Amino acid sequence: MADTNAKLTVNGEEYELPIIKGTLGRPVIDIAALQDSGFWSYDPGFKVTAPVESKITYIDGGKGELLHRGYPIDQLANNAEYLEVAYALIHGDLPNAEQKADFFEKIRKHTGVHDQLRKFFEGFRRDAHPMAIMVGVVGALSAFYHDNLDVSNEEHREITAIRLIAKMPTLAAMSYKYSQGEPFMYPRNDFSYAENFLYMMFATPADVDYEPNDVVTRAMDKIFTLHADHEQNASTSTVRLAGSTGANPYACIAAGIAALWGPSHGGANEAVLEMLDEIGTVENVPAFMEKVKSREVKLMGFGHRVYKNFDPRAQVMKETCDEVLGALGINDPKLELAMALEKIALEDPFFVERNLYPNVDFYSGIILKAIGIPTSMFTVIFSLARTSGWISHWLEMHSAPFKIGRPRQLYTGETHRDFVKVEDRK
Ligand code: CMC
Repeated sequence: MADTNAKLTVNGEEYELPIIKGTLGRPVIDIAALQDSGFWSYDPGFKVTAPVESKITYIDGGKGELLHRGYPIDQLANNAEYLEVAYALIHGDLPNAEQKADFFEKIRKHTGVHDQLRKFFEGFRRDAHPMAIMVGVVGALSAFYHDNLDVSNEEHREITAIRLIAKMPTLAAMSYKYSQGEPFMYPRNDFSYAENFLYMMFATPADVDYEPNDVVTRAMDKIFTLHADHEQNASTSTVRLAGSTGANPYACIAAGIAALWGPSHGGANEAVLEMLDEIGTVENVPAFMEKVKSREVKLMGFGHRVYKNFDPRAQVMKETCDEVLGALGINDPKLELAMALEKIALEDPFFVERNLYPNVDFYSGIILKAIGIPTSMFTVIFSLARTSGWISHWLEMHSAPFKIGRPRQLYTGETHRDFVKVEDRK
C-alpha cells in the first residue's frame, strides 16, 4: 500500500514516486514513473532493487532473521520435516495432519522417473560433474511433460510442483550413481524423503537392506530444510526470470540449477572442501589467511550478501554438525582443519570488521563430508532442497498477472560506425 511519495527531480522535472510498505522490512520506492523520464535506474548486482512482491520468505540480514511464511527457520529446522516446509512454502501455511498425509502421499507416488531418462544419463561422460548432469536431466523432464502442460492451469502447476519435489532426490542420486559407475537404485516409497535419498545414494543391488542411520537422516532432512528457500537470490531470480517468459517449468528449474552452480552461490559448499584440500594442514592456516587478506583468494563459506551479522541457518547447521560428528565418531583431519579455520576467522579483525561469519555452506559442507557424500554432490543436494523454494516462487508468479522480466542497461560500447569489408579491416 502506498503511504506517501518520494520526490525525485531530474533535469528540472519533478517525479512523485510512491513509497510502498510491505508487512516487514524496508519499504520500496516505486520508480515506474521514471519510464518517461528519459533515464533508467542503475543498480549492478541488484543491491537495492526489488523486482517482485512476494509473500514466501522474509530475511532481515541485520538481525540474522529468516522466516518462511512467517515461521522462523530455527523452529522449522528443529521441529518440522522438510516436506512440511515445502508444503508451507507452496501453500502459505504448515499443513494440518490431513493435508500433511495427503501431500506426503502425493510426493511418494511421484518419486519414480521415466525409464527412458536412463538413456539421457548414458549420454554423459562417465566422469561428468553431477551438477552438469542435473542441469541436463532436469531440463530433459520438460520433454516428458510439455505438450499436456498448461502453465495457466492451476492443477497442472500444482502437479508440476509435486513431480519436481518428488523426483529431485531420485535424479540427484542417479547423477551420483552414474558418476560412480554403479547401477541406479529405484526409490523405496516406504522410506521418508531424506531416508529415501540416502538409500538411493548408498544402497547397491548387493546391499539392498541398507538402512539409513537416524542421526544422519535427521541431519540430511535439516540440510534440506535450511536450503529450501532464500528469497530473491540469484537462482530463484533466474527461475522467475525464465518463468516470466511462460517457459516450461522444468526448463526454468534447470536454469535455476545452472545459476546455483557458481561458487559465489550454491557452489560454495563444494568450494569450502576444495579450499580445505588446498590449505592441507592447520599449520598452513596463517599463510592462507594472509592470501585472503591480500584478496588473492576468498575464504569460502564465509560472508553473505544479505546476512551481515550472522546466518541463522549456519547456527542450526553448526549444532547439527556437532551432533553428526559426535554420533559418527568422525576423526577426520579435514574437519579439524575446518574448525581451526572457523576459530581464527571469528577472532581475526579482518573478518570481524567486515562482519564475515561462517554461512550455511561452511557447516553443510563439513556435515556432508562426514556423512560420506562426495564433494561433487554438495551443490546437487542444495539444488534438490532449493527446488521447493524455486517452484514456490514460480507458482506465486503464475498465480497473478505478471510481466516478462526485461532489464535495461547503461550502454558504454561503440557508438555508430560503418561496416568495413573483411579485407579492409585492420
Ligand atoms: N573472504 C574474504 N573476504 C570477503 C569474503 C570472503 N568470503 N566475503 C566478502 N569479503 C570481503 C570483500 O573483499 C569486501 O572487502 P573490502 O570491503 O575490504 O573490499 C567485503 O568483505 C564486502 O564484501 P562484498 O564482496 O561487498 O560482499 P558481497 O555481499 O558482494 O558478497 C558473497 C557476498 C557471498 C558473494 C561473498 O561474501 C563471498 O564470495 N563469499 C564466499 C562464497 C560463499 O561462501 N558463498 C555462499 C553464500 S551462502 C549460500 C547462498 O545463499 O548462496
